[in-house]
Amino acid sequence: MVKTAVLVSGGGTNLQAILDAMLFGEIKNCEITAVISSSPEAYALTRAKNAGVPAYVVDIKSFPNRRFFTDAIIDKLRDLDIELVVMAGFKYILTSRFTSVFDSRIINIHPSLIPAFCGEGYYDIHVHEKALEYGVKLTGATAHFVTREPDAGPIILQKAVEVREDDTPETLQKRVMEEAEWKILPRAVSLFCEGRLKIEGRVVRILPEKLSK
Ligand code: GRF
Repeated sequence: MVKTAVLVSGGGTNLQAILDAMLFGEIKNCEITAVISSSPEAYALTRAKNAGVPAYVVDIKSFPNRRFFTDAIIDKLRDLDIELVVMAGFKYILTSRFTSVFDSRIINIHPSLIPAFCGEGYYDIHVHEKALEYGVKLTGATAHFVTREPDAGPIILQKAVEVREDDTPETLQKRVMEEAEWKILPRAVSLFCEGRLKIEGRVVRILPEKLSK
């Protein structure tokens, strides 16, 4: 079982998608060891509690800067012997020490088809505002490995979502979550835990399912 921690900051709907997929046996060879929240008020903590998953708070407000906050998260992950880190609606960019320590072992979900609408400043509802402003007809979500540069790591899975004439940033955000994020994030976690992701440069190869006896 791959010991997995989910980093959250808010509502935790992506965390819920992972917990539900675990319950339905859709994620193989994975143990959700911990949920770590950057805020004590995050509803994601209640979701963890309801699922019987240990939840911890590393409160961003109690650290003077990003470096100390990152170090505290790393310490917690190391204490728990975490092998895979999933960023599920986690709002903060951590320092490069985080991506070095957990190199090729951090998965993030981003609400657009990378390389469109990603990087510095593209987070949360702003991603959908920018997509509508630009006039794209298709958007979606991307599950990817996290590297030093925001949203630029090797892509694991993507799923497209159509933009409708009457979409607002809010309606588009909701559809992207329901139709794409909540589907591909649990799938990406399972593929990692099954040992089926092979990173070649910036390309991720998905290896075929191992035949069970
Ligand atoms: C949404 O903005 C989604 O697009 C982004 O994270 C937010 C959802 O957060 N990836 P959560 O999973 O409900 O906490």
